[in-house]
Amino acid sequence: MKGREWYQADEVAEEYESKRFSRGGQLIDRREKRAVLSALGPVEDQEVLEIACGTGRFTVMLAERGADVVGLDISKPMLQQGRRKAAAANGRVDWLRGDAARLPFPDDSFDTVLAMRFFHLADTPAAFLSELRRVSRNRVVFDTFNSGSTRSVYNWLLPMGSRLYSRAEVEGLLARSALELVGADHDFVLPYGLYRQTPNLLAAPLRSLDRAVGRLPGGHRLASVSWWEARVPGADDAEPTESVARTETTGPTPSDGTGEPADPDPETAADGGERGSEPDSDPDPEPETAD
Ligand SMILES: C[S@@+](CC[C@H](N)C(=O)[O-])C[C@H]1O[C@@H](n2cnc3c(N)ncnc32)[C@H](O)[C@@H]1O
Repeated sequence: MKGREWYQADEVAEEYESKRFSRGGQLIDRREKRAVLSALGPVEDQEVLEIACGTGRFTVMLAERGADVVGLDISKPMLQQGRRKAAAANGRVDWLRGDAARLPFPDDSFDTVLAMRFFHLADTPAAFLSELRRVSRNRVVFDTFNSGSTRSVYNWLLPMGSRLYSRAEVEGLLARSALELVGADHDFVLPYGLYRQTPNLLAAPLRSLDRAVGRLPGGHRLASVSWWEARVPGADDAEPTESVARTETTGPTPSDGTGEPADPDPETAADGGERGSEPDSDPDPEPETAD
């Protein structure tokens, strides 16, 4: 798993957020945070394990919302960045260096296990997902980068390797881990690298264009990223409150603190909010950074 080594370097950790989430990349950061809050709902007093927490973008956000969070990552420099951020924020986090393949927790230790931007690095995703499920008593939330998206144009250039998934593959992985899919959300037709290159002033129009394309019939199939919410069958609150058709519009309102407004044009389409359009084959103009 090349991604395990890639993030051990000090300079990679130091530049991780500034490279990805400045300029137009801020919109990606906000959207991802909104996706997490939408999937998790209120987290106050919940026990949350964040796998591959990196610099703590989500870890700190959840702790500030009252969750009891453990942030686990294999990279010491990434964890150091997270600790620095947490020191300047409210909320308590336990940071732990460890391997997601062998989690140092008994079965059913956490209400929720979260893994963002991790599965594209995983060479044995089924084994990782089973381990995440083992320590969760309720749900597992994670994202994938998608085959069939613009990302496939430049994915092979990424230096640490990056695995793409189809929906069928994700469903297969969930079935093998005895997890039940209860929510899915899909976004970003345009490449992430394009946002990173875009000055703040132009980022909002670019995002509007992206969302408009994504809302076209079948457009969500072109989405670069999907967020998945899965439940442990038989868990206390395992009854899905929404269909698998969660879309952007079901996310939190602007008061969620992520800074990204709710979609003003609610979608009601079933089956994952099927959206679509002609493919956008514009490759990532800056593919040298890992995601
Ligand atoms: C792209 S970063 C994502 C960080 C964070 N989740 C985010 O979205 O900002 C990937 C992270 O996965 C971590 N990682 C890779 N392999 C791992 C493993 N086997 N166990 C735990 N963490 C791992 C890396 O150290 C890195 O911090």
